[in-house]
Amino acid sequence: MSVTPLQALPIDELRQRTSTKWQKYPQDILPFFVAEMDYPLAPAITAALTRAVQLGDTGYTPPEPGIREAFVAFAQRRFDWTVDPATVFWTGDVMMGVVEILRAVTSPGDRVVVTTPVYPPFFDTVEEAGAVVERVPLARSEAGWELDLLGIEAALAGGARAVLLCNPHNPTGTVHTSQSLAALADVAARFGAVVISDEIHGPLAHGDVPFTPFLAVSDAARRVGYTVTSASKTYNFAGLKCAVMIGGGAEQAKVLRALPWEVEWRTGLFGALANNAAFAPESDAWLDSLLAALDENRRLLAELLAEHLPEAVYRIPDAGFLAWVDVSAYGWGDNPATELRRKARVAFHHGPLFGDEGKGHVRINFACSPDLLREAIERVGALVAP
Ligand SMILES: Cc1ncc(COP(=O)(O)O)c(C=O)c1O
Repeated sequence: MSVTPLQALPIDELRQRTSTKWQKYPQDILPFFVAEMDYPLAPAITAALTRAVQLGDTGYTPPEPGIREAFVAFAQRRFDWTVDPATVFWTGDVMMGVVEILRAVTSPGDRVVVTTPVYPPFFDTVEEAGAVVERVPLARSEAGWELDLLGIEAALAGGARAVLLCNPHNPTGTVHTSQSLAALADVAARFGAVVISDEIHGPLAHGDVPFTPFLAVSDAARRVGYTVTSASKTYNFAGLKCAVMIGGGAEQAKVLRALPWEVEWRTGLFGALANNAAFAPESDAWLDSLLAALDENRRLLAELLAEHLPEAVYRIPDAGFLAWVDVSAYGWGDNPATELRRKARVAFHHGPLFGDEGKGHVRINFACSPDLLREAIERVGALVAP
């Protein structure tokens, strides 16, 4: 059955938003940097939040906000992943969950593997936990990018204690295969290391490569792993604070239960209400129409780049709404986003923030109307037109 793609809101409405995407730069600059989307909220989320506002229901998150049950059901329905409810905990946001788990499982100065280029807060978060970043860049493959399992093995053999995995990967949009996740779990188990899998982009896999939750991949993964995720990216409510932490088994659940009380208290009530509404079956249709819209845009971007920026290197992502584009052929320097903002009045994300591999790259958020995406690439294309 074909699904009608979700329609982005008109730009006049979007400009009334007060979030970073629409406020950081002057109005003549079109924003494609931060990972916020231009679509209306899923109706069940709007209803839950509207009701809360009408009731003045703006207090603290209760001890049992329903997130555990909502997430367990969502994981089963969308990923065929059976999660033991006793392993599910919650906190304010994904990076908060990651930092607290890192603090619990590493000692100051321990090395933690991150697979660059990667979501920039991964670097700060490892440091915030008192650990040290060990970069093992993704390997280039026929299919795009993949985990450098030999590099990770060497890092763990050399004493690194944990791997902070991005699954699916931001910014490349790589959906790691179940084989590579299973191999990662085996190597971590061999060296007694921990894997923390950030799966915030999981529900946004486009289906070319099936999304595999790390903890679903093997017994070894469940022995070494934690997952941190939230509906906030998929359903576009990053400003509402709530994320889910899942331990692979009883041991990890013990670690999560022993985290300071404040970790759970940082969960925002609106974040919990929005996650519950997002994970509910009534939001599935919205997610399917979002995926249909993103599928069209990820392909449209390939066409636009071929027409207006033929030297750009872009691999259509397997998940999400972020495009990792190498524009180094155009000589806009290590950080092309700066020059493009100045000259073309479009704000892309700065490639080098994602690691050295990001030099000459921009990250483009294509969760917008096809017209806006077209205008952005045409503006940049005009800079290089003969
Ligand atoms: C991989 C990844 N993790 C985490 C986040 C942010 O999550 P949170 O705001 O819940 O910390 C993002 C945001 O784009 C992301 O791409």
